[in-house]
Amino acid sequence: MEPVVLQDMAAVEHLFSIIRDRETEYPEFSMRISVLGSMVIAEALKHAPFKNLTVQTPLEPVAVKRILEKDIVGIPILRAGLGMVKPFQRLLPNASVYHIGLKRDEETLAPDYYYDSLPRDLTGRTIFLLDPMLATGGSAVAAAELVAKRNPTAMVFCGIIGAPEGVKMLSERFPKMPIYLGALDDHLDENGYIRPGLGDAGDRLFGT
Ligand code: PRP
Ligand code: URA
Repeated sequence: MEPVVLQDMAAVEHLFSIIRDRETEYPEFSMRISVLGSMVIAEALKHAPFKNLTVQTPLEPVAVKRILEKDIVGIPILRAGLGMVKPFQRLLPNASVYHIGLKRDEETLAPDYYYDSLPRDLTGRTIFLLDPMLATGGSAVAAAELVAKRNPTAMVFCGIIGAPEGVKMLSERFPKMPIYLGALDDHLDENGYIRPGLGDAGDRLFGT
């Protein structure tokens, strides 16, 4: 499946101009990632379960669509995925959030698993995997494999920047999973960094 990338809006360009800039310090970086995260997640909510109902405005009845927040689960991939939890919870305060901890090995670039808080069963739930960076795709695939074992209804990936290599790997392994990104960058370098990218998202989010 082709990734869905945020449209060329002035606000998106402005936010990327700040998060890509190496001079941007971490409190601001974090805040801007959060705003971009809410834009990406808002787009991806197209895949959220919803119901049609009629509500009564103070003036008249009106037909509306309401997302079934409790049937949705957000799963940030630690650490950097934590930067997308606040926007997720602002949009869906009644959705649960579970965590998966993965750390890329700097030499092999393969993700090392160190933690998860997933429940045994995710039947009936739609999963939003949250991670700002989709580089080789190894972490997203490892996380999606862990989640898939719990039998969710559907999975959607939400990221801030993706590399073509990561999109290819994730969509080949999970062809039905929609991929939403703020931007699709040019390539991965020999160290596994997305170019032009924004550097190490986890370090920049947490000032490490
Ligand atoms: C970063 C990022 C992704 C992963 C992407 O995390 O947040 O999880 O790399 O790379 P991949 O697509 O090649 O797997 P990292 O492993 O550096 O951990 P951190 O978030 O704790 O810094
Ligand atoms: N992880 C990051 O934080 N940045 C990259 O460019 C690639 C992986």
